[in-house]
Amino acid sequence: MANKIGTVGIIGLGRMGRCMVKGLLETQTLKKSDLLFTTKHLETAAQIEQELEIKACKTNSELIEKSDIIVIAVKPQNISEVLDEVGKKISKGQTIVSIVASISTSLIESKLPKGVAVIRAMPNTPAFVGAGMIAWCNGSKALEKDWERAQTLFQPLGKVARVDEKHMDAVTGLSGCGPAYLYVVLESLTDAGIKVGLPRELATQLAGQTVLGAARMLLDTGRHPAALKDEVTTPAGCTIDGLLELEEGKLRVTLIKAVVQATKRAKTLAKQVKL
Ligand SMILES: NC(=O)c1ccc[n+]([C@@H]2O[C@H](COP(=O)([O-])OP(=O)(O)OC[C@H]3O[C@@H](n4cnc5c(N)ncnc54)[C@H](OP(=O)(O)O)[C@@H]3O)[C@@H](O)[C@H]2O)c1
Repeated sequence: MANKIGTVGIIGLGRMGRCMVKGLLETQTLKKSDLLFTTKHLETAAQIEQELEIKACKTNSELIEKSDIIVIAVKPQNISEVLDEVGKKISKGQTIVSIVASISTSLIESKLPKGVAVIRAMPNTPAFVGAGMIAWCNGSKALEKDWERAQTLFQPLGKVARVDEKHMDAVTGLSGCGPAYLYVVLESLTDAGIKVGLPRELATQLAGQTVLGAARMLLDTGRHPAALKDEVTTPAGCTIDGLLELEEGKLRVTLIKAVVQATKRAKTLAKQVKL
């Protein structure tokens, strides 16, 4: 049976694109035959074809001809070559979904024929296991049909939030890059477990489930993180000693600065791209 959104062609099936493909196939949102992709190098495409059993197109033009939704998943520095090559070949019935950090919908629209719909999204890699965070905004020409297509594509990958385009760089700095920050936290907690004598496998499980559980408490209860923290913190107990170390190590300010710096970087990337 045909899916609701037609053929999805991904230009630039790299790390993020693969996480999305995995999520879409696992949830049976799309069949392998609904997906097409390109990469810059034909050898990379051949490897992915073999590994994921989805079909590569030889050129971006071939992909454009055969796709209803075109996901642009190249790095910001490659988007101008892609749009110069195929931008004008895209037609009005197609929907462009760009997951390229920093590049605005208006910049993309300026390289397309008049009236082509653009949706801009910022996913993150946990889309691989259906636990992604996908924030998206629409360009000036996107219609309900295009939003519906985008929703069908994003919803199986995790939580979805529609945002104003002005927030997209901040979203990039927080949830786009955020998994990397938390992997550092998880690695450190695991190392800490090993330092205090736990077997590695157990330490990994304790760290992972603790982060997952704390995140679910926050999201499911809607309570403030400080109130949830206070519940763990018994007077003169163990937790307050651990928290004191975190304060001395400036964990809070370090995490805030990480997001601020990544957001600033997201703002500057587009300035280095000549579209
Ligand atoms: N990684 C993340 O966590 C994440 C999260 C959210 C958004 N994003 C965004 O997703 C985009 C891709 O990031 P990534 O980490 O997936 O990068 P990546 O792994 O380097 O993937 C980029 C892909 O683009 C292909 N490519 C480059 N030029 C091309 C062209 N002219 N035509 C067709 N394909 C081309 C590359 O092919 P070759 O492999 O053959 O060179 C590669 O497959 C970026 O804009 C990034 O901002 C990434």
